[in-house]
Amino acid sequence: MGPIYILALSILTLHLSAVPSVLATFQPLAVPFRSPVTVAAGLSASVIFSNLTTPRGITFDTEQNLLVVERGFGVTAFTPTTFPAPGWNRTVVIQNTGFTQGIQIDGDKLYVSTATTTFIYQYNALNRSIAPNVAPISIVTGIPGDGDLTTHTLQLEQDVSGKAVALLIADGPLENIDVTARDPASGRSQIRRFVLPTISFSDPPAPLSWANGQIIAFGIRNPAGFAFPTVGIPPSGSKFLLVVENGASIDGLANLTSAFVNDNPSDELEFVKYPISLSGIASTAPKTYGFPDCTSLWNPLADPVGNPSFVNKTRGFQFSLELEPSRDDAFCANVSNNQPPILNFQAHSVPLDIKFYEPPQRFTPKGLPLLLLGHAFVSFHGSFDRSPPTGYGVVQFPYPISRPANNGLGYSFVVQATNLNTCPGSCIRPVGLAFGKDGRLFVSSDSSGELFVIEQQ
Ligand SMILES: *[C@@H]1O[C@H](CO)[C@@H](O)[C@H](O)[C@H]1NC(C)=O
Ligand SMILES: *[C@@H]1O[C@H](CO)[C@@H](O)[C@H](O)[C@H]1NC(C)=O
Ligand SMILES: *[C@@H]1O[C@H](CO)[C@@H](O)[C@H](O)[C@H]1NC(C)=O
Ligand SMILES: *[C@@H]1O[C@H](CO)[C@@H](O)[C@H](O)[C@H]1NC(C)=O
Ligand SMILES: *[C@@H]1O[C@H](CO)[C@@H](O)[C@H](O)[C@H]1NC(C)=O
Ligand SMILES: *[C@@H]1O[C@H](CO)[C@@H](O)[C@H](O)[C@H]1NC(C)=O
Repeated sequence: MGPIYILALSILTLHLSAVPSVLATFQPLAVPFRSPVTVAAGLSASVIFSNLTTPRGITFDTEQNLLVVERGFGVTAFTPTTFPAPGWNRTVVIQNTGFTQGIQIDGDKLYVSTATTTFIYQYNALNRSIAPNVAPISIVTGIPGDGDLTTHTLQLEQDVSGKAVALLIADGPLENIDVTARDPASGRSQIRRFVLPTISFSDPPAPLSWANGQIIAFGIRNPAGFAFPTVGIPPSGSKFLLVVENGASIDGLANLTSAFVNDNPSDELEFVKYPISLSGIASTAPKTYGFPDCTSLWNPLADPVGNPSFVNKTRGFQFSLELEPSRDDAFCANVSNNQPPILNFQAHSVPLDIKFYEPPQRFTPKGLPLLLLGHAFVSFHGSFDRSPPTGYGVVQFPYPISRPANNGLGYSFVVQATNLNTCPGSCIRPVGLAFGKDGRLFVSSDSSGELFVIEQQ
């Protein structure tokens, strides 16, 4: 690379960071998926933007621009347009290579996170811009920034009037099987809650410390996605939360064969109830969901010869990874040590987000069928260590859960990569989910660099 080229590059870089909002790009409708997808009957899936930088968390702003954390790039906004042709415009909102995944919007407050700190930016949805000369507020600092999974999913909690009153932040494990996560004080494999102070950009509040957060659940290996169910009223002073959890990779553990671990353990859906009243917080210890010691059976018959002890167990059976002799199957059967999941997902699905389909605020025939109202939708990033591959799609199931009988699935795909044997390759790898006001479901796919929408045909 010659000196002239380097100079050109650095001028370009300066230009990008100085006036990001000028940089709008456009993509027409009907650009094909990089790799084909199969869609459930009556629905269709289409690409709205391609060639993005690892799109992860997504959410809608007050003007129905779709905001996306492009991991390794920053935050971008996507707006439907009819000019220069029917399609979508992409606008750069913030360039910051440190943002990981979590993104939330509360009016003009845009919440994003790096590996260690959650920030609030002052954001204007009308021109898709951050207020010039207004420093972002560091709202939570000291989040564990090391380890394999620093995605830090964010979720605002609202009071009955719809006001954002608290922020939930997830933290993953230090390593695949992290024994330090047994101790809730480790900060690993858990969700913490932070009651929000008054947010003023001209008079910013002091940062809250991760160390002082309320632990609402722990022993959830990688709590990558969580949402408040729209059905079911929690007791006064408490909240219900549904959390998707990625099971550990258990290859190489004593006594488990490669055929067994190819189809085990299951990924999980956890039901969490947590206190929000001061007296409840003071008197209620958070519950553990079993990581690293306990996990869930997916396929009892995965290896009847090599691992026969599972053949008469049912899907969802809680078994011990035998990391310590005292933490055996009986230990895992005790809910004081291990809250079992309410639904099991196929091993290696890697669920990363969950959203409930609420009644659309604006009717269009493209919105998902009203029969699916209240259903949960979960993104499956897909396996990297299963043969043949699984996941690479989005599933849905009714809520409240009806437990599938006879080791049934309990959920169904709305979209999935057609040629699983070619995955990961250029297959969709769904991460973030967001419903538009019109009831259409938007999805980010990180390694394929795509954003797409699922709608009624
Ligand atoms: C994405 O990038 C590839 C490779 O540079 C290019 O061939 C393709 O046209 C791009 N797609 C769109 C929709 O711009
Ligand atoms: C999309 O961008 C084009 C410029 O490329 C602009 O003319 C058009 O107004 C934009 N559309 C919207 C809805 O912002
Ligand atoms: C966006 O609008 C706000 C409010 O009018 C204004 O202060 C800001 O400068 C605008 N940003 C850009 C990049 O035009
Ligand atoms: C696991 O294997 C070890 C050594 O082969 C054996 O002593 C132990 O009983 C086995 N544990 C189980 C639960 O099968
Ligand atoms: C499983 O159950 C069958 C029928 O009850 C029994 O014959 C068999 O021995 C059991 N297998 C194991 C490994 O417990
Ligand atoms: C479950 O574990 C708790 C805490 O260790 C213990 O107090 C309780 O006796 C256990 N229950 C059973 C049925 O073993």
